[in-house]
Amino acid sequence: MNTDLLRSLRFMRRYRLVAAAAVLAVLGSSVADLIAPQILRRIIDQGITAGRREVITSGALLLIGVAAAGGVAQFLQGFLSAKASHGAAYDMREAIFERLQTLSFSYHDRIQTGQLITRLTSDVDLVRDFVGGGLVQAIAAAIMLVGAVVLLLAMNWQLALVALVAIPLTILVLVRFVSKLGPMFRGFQQRLSALNSILQENVAGIRVVKAFAREPFEAARYRAANESLLQQGLTVRRTVANAFPLLFSVGNLGVALVVWAGAVQVAHGRLTVGELVAFTSYLMLLLQPLFVLGFGAQTIARAGASASRLFEVLDAETDVPERPGAIELTNARGRVEFRDVHLRYPGSDAETLNGVSFVVEPGATIALVGSTGSGKTSVVNLVPRFYDVTGGAVLLDDHDVRDLTLASLRGRIGVVMQDSVLFSGTIAENIAYGKPDATPDAIAAAAQAAQADTFIEQLSDGYDTRVGERGIKLSGGQRQRIAIARALLIDPRVLIMDDSTSSVDAETESALRASLDRLIGGRTTFIVAQRLSTVKRADEILVIEDGAVVARGTHEALLAESCVYAEIAASQLVGGEELDLPESCMLEGE
Ligand SMILES: Nc1ncnc2c1ncn2[C@@H]1O[C@H](COP(=O)(O)OP(=O)(O)OP(=O)(O)O)[C@@H](O)[C@H]1O
Ligand SMILES: [Mg+2]
Repeated sequence: MNTDLLRSLRFMRRYRLVAAAAVLAVLGSSVADLIAPQILRRIIDQGITAGRREVITSGALLLIGVAAAGGVAQFLQGFLSAKASHGAAYDMREAIFERLQTLSFSYHDRIQTGQLITRLTSDVDLVRDFVGGGLVQAIAAAIMLVGAVVLLLAMNWQLALVALVAIPLTILVLVRFVSKLGPMFRGFQQRLSALNSILQENVAGIRVVKAFAREPFEAARYRAANESLLQQGLTVRRTVANAFPLLFSVGNLGVALVVWAGAVQVAHGRLTVGELVAFTSYLMLLLQPLFVLGFGAQTIARAGASASRLFEVLDAETDVPERPGAIELTNARGRVEFRDVHLRYPGSDAETLNGVSFVVEPGATIALVGSTGSGKTSVVNLVPRFYDVTGGAVLLDDHDVRDLTLASLRGRIGVVMQDSVLFSGTIAENIAYGKPDATPDAIAAAAQAAQADTFIEQLSDGYDTRVGERGIKLSGGQRQRIAIARALLIDPRVLIMDDSTSSVDAETESALRASLDRLIGGRTTFIVAQRLSTVKRADEILVIEDGAVVARGTHEALLAESCVYAEIAASQLVGGEELDLPESCMLEGE
């Protein structure tokens, strides 16, 4: 049996009393099954053969009673094991979700959403089926198997040995069956995940699909994945269907042998008819658990594949671990230093940042400019530890950021990301995302600073307006301003704005600048800039090229000194079109 499946049993720990009661109920129904043939034997040998009617009547009543008791036990077993297994499934989902919250950006870069959703739903259910149904049934089957073997041997060991010939054969068939099914079920879950990933990506990007009229292509892509899932499902079915006739023939071979050998013994007077009937009943009881294990083998193989997929998530290590004894940052001044920082993203073989060093004094504003893909976002993402440096260090005040607790570090940093994600809920809830206990006044103040108050107040429900799943009912610029308000509300010491004013028009931007100047006052600010006006106000500008700082200084100084900067300013920054490139740069550039 797969070790991940054994590990998944730890989710039953909290429900062990209920599970134990379920096993007791199973024991009860197994005992009922084992007693019945003995009653039957008595009815035949002492009732029917001897012609004693009262033995027949009392035996029949006893049989009914035993059957009823067995039924009650079976009902209890079903009820109790469902109770335990649904509880375990709840705990599994909680554990995985919690793990996902702690995993770093790089984990979420790698894993597909469809994969995670399949794991939290289908895989959890399959493991639940096992711990609830499959496992209890397997325990019951094992008890029946042992009980039946013991009774068979006690009744007539010669006949028992004949019967037992069938067992190793059946086990052989079962083992081959399970080992073949395991990988098949794993393949099935993988294809299901792939299908869900296509669905998720398609729904998220449906507007792009429509804009480019690619619906037929998307439909074909989905159909291909769907087809592949169907084929795998059919392959599994075929394997199961092929295995059962074999299983049954092996089992029936045992019965045939026993009936033949038993009949010979009855003919010689060494066995009564009642004993032979009881014996063959036990043989059925022996084969039944083998078949249960056969059907259960499917559940086991399937749950094993799913358990492995669950533990892949549960065992994943975060790339930005918190050090034991990490320091709680209480009062940051906001000095940020990069010391010869290198960054290689997990799974990439080239360095994205190669030796970045700079210091930002508390309260200073630093602008990052550079062509697309040069590494600006990568630089600012290192401050809140969205990724960890692979060489050098990032310091906040005088602490390496890796020595601080993540919550206290990130609680001091306000981030406006390149694309602003809003959650479903009201505008006020979105602004207060980082500080759920904020007062309506504080929310309004943050909105005002982000120049979002005017449009919010024009909405029918104002701050209580609900925004869709991804804030789709708002324009790009409006979304961005809510994201800015959200970052400002936590009153951060360090403010990071990545391209955050790019989809705001020039007029709003200058108003935004004015109130931001007030708000920025005292905050260390990183701005990945798209506009000349923003850049001009910065205390220092870093020009990033190919993951390194190639020039730094104020706008005027850089314009005179750095052709790279002059070119970026003239060709890439909004408002930089009218800048004159120095002669020397033009010559160099030709
Ligand atoms: N999560 C990631 N995993 C692997 N590589 C990444 C990741 N993020 C960025 N990169 C790579 O690192 C390089 C720098 O990317 P970065 O996002 O820092 O650029 P940027 O300067 O912010 O560009 P832009 O102006 O387009 O936003 C790119 O080549 C990019 O492909
Ligand atoms: Mg970027």
